[in-house]
Amino acid sequence: MALFTWKDEYLLGLEPLDFEHKDLFECINNLYEQCRIQTEGGEIEDCLGQLHVRLVAHFALEEKTMCEMKNPHYEAHKAEHDRFLEEVTEVVASFGTTPDEEHVEAFAIRVKEWILTHITTTDRQLVTRGR
Ligand SMILES: [Fe+2]
Repeated sequence: MALFTWKDEYLLGLEPLDFEHKDLFECINNLYEQCRIQTEGGEIEDCLGQLHVRLVAHFALEEKTMCEMKNPHYEAHKAEHDRFLEEVTEVVASFGTTPDEEHVEAFAIRVKEWILTHITTTDRQLVTRGR
């Protein structure tokens, strides 16, 4: 069973960002699934790498969008992204040296919770306040 399902209530109405949010959901589900079916460490490492790359690209796009919209919450929002990316980078690096599937499965759940909270609160500010 997928870790989580996309719901249209998560849409911001900003198409490129919504598209990438959906894509991130799939990426996290995929990572979780790979851990659940206990595939070889290499596949989990690929999924982790993909998630990392997509998060970096997505945050960059979101920050560019915020600049263009002159969003007053830019600094705080970017700081949230940066803190989370540090956490993700650490997990990716530690999996590279000491693979631990159970830790990654718990991490997939942590990423899911972070993304869900972030999309429904901080990202929501892109289309409510400061637009
Ligand atoms: Fe964001």
